[in-house]
Amino acid sequence: MVAPSILSADFANLEKEIKAVSAAGADWIHVDVMDGRFVPNITIGIPVVKSLKKVSPIPLDVHLMIENPERYVEDFIKAGSDYLTIHVEATPDPAGTLMRIRELGAKAGITLRPRTSIDEILPLLPLCDLVLVMTVEPGFGGQSFMHDQIAKISRLHEERQKNNFSYLIEVDGGINEETAKLCHEADVFVAGSYVFGRDYKTAITTLKS
Ligand code: DX5
Ligand code: ZN
Repeated sequence: MVAPSILSADFANLEKEIKAVSAAGADWIHVDVMDGRFVPNITIGIPVVKSLKKVSPIPLDVHLMIENPERYVEDFIKAGSDYLTIHVEATPDPAGTLMRIRELGAKAGITLRPRTSIDEILPLLPLCDLVLVMTVEPGFGGQSFMHDQIAKISRLHEERQKNNFSYLIEVDGGINEETAKLCHEADVFVAGSYVFGRDYKTAITTLKS
């Protein structure tokens, strides 16, 4: 699956952009929420997710890059997040937060910064519908893919088989037609600058193939 990140879309025309990537074959819309604390950038929040939900024909995959996400999961789910992903580094209680996301009726995702060991999230895997591997430092679109993160994808693939887990593996950061090939064990490819920087249909079809 391909999830275009609207961080690289035209923010003055989000409805048009979402409909265009959906028509071009996108599976989910990836929404990057940043608070200026967990990451050094500020993007969008709850009211924008609510508006996007009204016009999106496909699921919203919301990536929270915020401190203390446990305070906000309910609001983000009420606003229409289908998948809600939190950073393991951002909360004192990742397990409780993941359980709460599921209780509130959304799919629960965990993610980690590139320098965080995969060991930090292994105990959480039974609570996850989605595991997101960051292949750039969270905060900005258009950065270069970090090859040393590929091992995390393989490990998650292995753990899923070994334990019969059902989470999807998603990869985010620096994805293009070359780097996507290196991540063939992932199920969902987030791409911002690659998709929004060229013809949407060509970009999405290329990533899928
Ligand atoms: C980075 C975000 C990404 C970003 C990806 O913090 O999580 O979703 O938009 O952008 P590209 O595909 O341009 O690396
Ligand atoms: Zn993201």
